[in-house]
Amino acid sequence: MHIDPLERKWAYISLGIAALFVSVILFDALFHGVNAPSNVETIDSARLHLSEEFAEDNLGVQVDDNGNIIVRMVAGRYSFFPKHITVPADTPLKFRWASIDVLHGVHMPMTNMSTMIVPGYVSEVNTVLPKPGDYPFLCNEYCGLGHDHMWSKVTVVAKQHWTPPAANKPEGDLNDE
Ligand code: CUA
Repeated sequence: MHIDPLERKWAYISLGIAALFVSVILFDALFHGVNAPSNVETIDSARLHLSEEFAEDNLGVQVDDNGNIIVRMVAGRYSFFPKHITVPADTPLKFRWASIDVLHGVHMPMTNMSTMIVPGYVSEVNTVLPKPGDYPFLCNEYCGLGHDHMWSKVTVVAKQHWTPPAANKPEGDLNDE
């Protein structure tokens, strides 16, 4: 089959452009962490209290062994648990949520933070909250009659005023063995 050389050249150029775009996307996704707001990670919503990660005494703000700050919360009709968290400003934060019952959402006004919390999946958002202050955490997916009252409070304090939680260990007697 004969292909005109000029046409062949343009075909290569357009394939090259497509390949360039695909590699830019791959590069961003792999090295800059640019991806859809949630990751695909499943969890059994009915057994959250038995899961290691979302057990009641593991919720809230924690600092892991590498110094990363991780916030774990459970969304359930009609609240986020815990009701109130305190995090440092200008610091990378990893939020992880799981729903205990139905579809919820979480939205933090005045910031770019917003995600759905789908039962059966773990929602994850990596963000930096630049401005200290008190922010509401609002549910933005209709989840029932109490939807309007479903919210928690986030206090963002200046980095130097934030004290990390005492230990990366749950408090209380539950885990004493
Ligand atoms: Cu939860 Cu609306």
